[in-house]
Amino acid sequence: MFLFTTVAAYRSQRRAWQGKTVALVPTMGALHEGHRALIRHARSVADVVVVSIFVNPLQFGPQEDLAAYPRPKEQDLASCEALGVDAVFYPHPSEMYPDGPEPLTRVIPPASMTEHFCGAFRPGHFEGVATVVLKLFSIVQPDVAVFGEKDAQQLAIIQKMTHDLNVPVRIVPHPTLRDERGLALSSRNQYLKTPQEQEAALCLSQILFGAQQALAEAGGSLPAKETLDRLQAAVLAPWECSPVSVRVQYLAAVDPVTFQPVAQLRPGVRVLIAAYVNQVRLIDNCLLT
Ligand code: PAF
Repeated sequence: MFLFTTVAAYRSQRRAWQGKTVALVPTMGALHEGHRALIRHARSVADVVVVSIFVNPLQFGPQEDLAAYPRPKEQDLASCEALGVDAVFYPHPSEMYPDGPEPLTRVIPPASMTEHFCGAFRPGHFEGVATVVLKLFSIVQPDVAVFGEKDAQQLAIIQKMTHDLNVPVRIVPHPTLRDERGLALSSRNQYLKTPQEQEAALCLSQILFGAQQALAEAGGSLPAKETLDRLQAAVLAPWECSPVSVRVQYLAAVDPVTFQPVAQLRPGVRVLIAAYVNQVRLIDNCLLT
């Protein structure tokens, strides 16, 4: 497995892969089973698999602790090696942003896609994500790039960017991995310390699965707001008098491509949720069938 820390070193190897298909899995490291599924999927769709590991300062807000973000380098490299990754691109921030954060040309996704949901609570976040992803595409020159559906807003914004800017990379979404109780895999799950917090975290998927079940029972469509409000109340009721607090930050139904809210639950609509379990912020979503 190659380990590249500079653009120039990577590029010379990229020339040697001429004629082969290259898949990129962009990550910020701290690889877990969800990332490993993306890497395995990449392995099945291309000749060469490149994983980028870069904790992107541009997508962290002033209140978010960039310095505290985990960087288990040796463990991540061992995971990549074990999965048969061909190359890891592991740049230093000074390689990615030699002029620092200013002045910098940035990608500004449409406000209509960033002003709601995660974007509303993390100003500038998706601008930082879109900018680094476009840079990674320019550096790595992949034919395909694999992104998890867990970060559905990120995925929709990247799909829109590649479409609008004619970026010659096929975006391959990969379904969210869940544990046996339905909890979506995430690096943040490690912050759920007690069994009660772990139990409370299941509220997110219970609400989503409840929406899917309600739609299946109703057939056709259902009013989104009433249905989601009712499910939220029912799932959260047992936690009201508990020492573990569960606070929903947003719960909404959207068009999966434009990310605009929709009034009806129906097949093809994506339901999104973000909630705090004590201090731990979790997100999840599901595409209704
Ligand atoms: O999803 C992530 O880990 C990051 O947002 C990404 C796509 C690697 C960009 O830094």
